[in-house]
Parts: sequence; C-alpha cells; structure tokens
Amino acid sequence: MSIRLAVITGGNSGIGLAIARRLLSLNSDELQFRVVLACRNQAKGAVARHQLLSAYPDALVDLVELDTSSVASVERAAAAVLLSYNGGIDLLFCNAGAMAIEALDIGGIVNGLLSHPIAFFESSEALRQQRGLVTADGMGETFQTNVFGHYLLINRLTLAMREGGRVVWTGSAASQLQFTHEDYQHIKGDKAYESSKYIVDQIAIPLDQRLKERGVRCLVAEPGNVCTNFLAGLDVPLFQYLVLGVFYFIRFVLGIARFTINADTAAVGCCFAALAEGADSRVKYHSHATRTGKPFVAQYPLSHNKDTSAFLVGKLDELVEQISSE
Ligand SMILES: NC(=O)c1ccc[n+]([C@@H]2O[C@H](COP(=O)([O-])OP(=O)(O)OC[C@H]3O[C@@H](n4cnc5c(N)ncnc54)[C@H](OP(=O)(O)O)[C@@H]3O)[C@@H](O)[C@H]2O)c1
Repeated sequence: MSIRLAVITGGNSGIGLAIARRLLSLNSDELQFRVVLACRNQAKGAVARHQLLSAYPDALVDLVELDTSSVASVERAAAAVLLSYNGGIDLLFCNAGAMAIEALDIGGIVNGLLSHPIAFFESSEALRQQRGLVTADGMGETFQTNVFGHYLLINRLTLAMREGGRVVWTGSAASQLQFTHEDYQHIKGDKAYESSKYIVDQIAIPLDQRLKERGVRCLVAEPGNVCTNFLAGLDVPLFQYLVLGVFYFIRFVLGIARFTINADTAAVGCCFAALAEGADSRVKYHSHATRTGKPFVAQYPLSHNKDTSAFLVGKLDELVEQISSE
C-alpha cells in the first residue's frame, strides 16, 4: 500500500478540516493518506483529530503545533515535520488564514448594498479590519499569518517534498484592494486580508517555477464564500446565521456558484488542485456549487502581474535570508 503524506495548516477548522476529511475519505487498499494537522491551538487540534478518527477509525492523523504568525513556531514545526516524516511530504496545504476583524463597517455595508449588492456579498466590505497590527517578529500580522509564515514553511520543507508533490494555497477572491508596493505588508491600511491574498496570487507562479525543478508544483485554489469560523472574531449575535441565510438565498435564487457555503464544498478546489492529474499554475482552482449545493471545480486564469510578483518574491526571499542568517 502506498502512503501519501499531507500537511494541512489550519487543519483543525473549516476548510482545512474539510480537506483532511476529503483526503481520508479517499483511502483505499492501494492508497492511504496520512494527514498532519498543523494547528496553533493544540486543544482544538486534538478535537479535530478526534472527529476525524471517529469518522475514519483506521486513519493516520497526526498533530503538529504551528503558529504561522511566529517565525520561531514555523521553524519548530518544520523541524518536527522533517524529523517525523523523513520519508517525504506529498502535499502541503497552505490554508491557515485570518482576518483581523475589528467590527462591522456600517458605511461600507450601506454603500455596498446600494451600489453593488451581489458583489458586496462576494467581498469582505462589510468588515472593518484593524490597522497597524505587527507581530513579535516585526511583520504585518495578517501578512505574516496568511503569507510569510507559509512562505517560510515551504522554504524549510522544500527538500523534503517528494517528486510529484504539490503545494496548494487557499487563496481568496478578495485581492488587490489598496495594495501598495511601499506598504506591501499592509500595516497602515485597513485591507490587510485582501492584500495578503493578492500576494498569494502574485507569488504562486514564480514559486511554481522554482519548485518545478524538484518535480513539485505550486497552485492556488479559491474556496468561494463559505460559512466557517472565519467570522468568529466578530462579536455580533446571530450575524453568522444572517450571512448563512443570505448566502443560501443568493445561491438558490440567483444561481451564483461561488457561494459554496459549507466547508466540504469549499474544499473541493483545494483537493482538486492537489490531486488532479494535470497541474497548471496559471489558473486558479475555484470551488463552486450548483443551486442545490452539488460541488464542482471551475478553472479561471490567475490574475498575475510579472513586475509585482518579482518584487514580492524578492521581498519574501530577503526576509527568509535575513531570518536564516540570524
Ligand atoms: N470563509 C471564507 O469565506 C473564505 C473565503 C476565501 C478564502 N478563505 C480562506 O480559507 C482559509 C481557511 O479559512 P476558513 O474559512 O476555513 O476559516 P476558519 O474555520 O477560521 O479556519 C482558519 C484556520 O486557520 C487557522 N489559523 C489562523 N491564524 C493562524 C495562525 N497564526 N497560525 C496557525 N493557524 C492559524 C485557524 O486556527 P484557530 O482555529 O486556532 O483559529 C483555523 O484553523 C483561510 O486562508 C481563509 O483566508 C476563506
């Protein structure tokens, strides 16, 4: 039997947990997935592991502590993975992500609903994000959590990736808004989440070119609009249920397929990017669903600017070099 090892960041919740479920559901006599849930909160990780083992009692499910917003934690996690799985890694899902939500943006909601109601629900305009958040490592918090922590992890694990392996980022449609080269970590602005996901789209192709030399591919998937714990930081009673109701209405009545709504449907793009025979880093693998919720994957060109992507890869490499030389 062949065993394929999949490391999933943020594997304890939402889309990450759904990716783990999907992989384990594919286990057969010939092929078995071993999943490593890389989580910042070990108690939550243990609950997720228990859930997976309840559904798949014979599965191999491990936990690794990883906080992508901390260089030291990424280094420890990478070392632990290298030590435990020297047979190699087949799949690395760069999925953990967060938005530093401050509150609902009432002005943004009114403006969005009046001027572009459907696009508004596809975006994160309803949410006001905190400005100026910097980690103990001195980086923009959302940038380090969503992008750099993973970039460093990929760097540290590249040599352990098996030929034919894949790195899959969980991207987002939210992008480019207010991204600037000067403040690429988006510390000063209030669209740090969008900027971080924009960076993911920009760096995927050059990373793919780099990893291809080792027979590994790097791809981006887009889960659509999903109701997970993502809005948990927003302390508005019943808001999540309101969002859920609106999402179902939009998908069923208007047939807009990007409203995937549940995590298992949202994870199909990530799993397709990881497992499909062909791989094309110039496209983004979008999770979609029919009006009645049947999942499918659609591929659209990955929007990518060569100069910006070279600039960003240069910056990210500089940060890695700086850390490696300390
Ligand atoms: N929900 C959506 O509509 C949507 C749309 C597009 C893209 N996405 C992306 O999908 C990915 C998964 O999000 P989700 O919707 O599944 O939300 P979720 O249920 O909140 O899952 C996010 C996961 O990331 C983990 N995480 C957050 N910060 C971390 C850090 N510093 N270090 C390690 N892990 C960290 C969380 O850990 P804790 O459980 O400890 O918080 C959790 O496991 C994210 O990258 C998100 O940007 C989501």
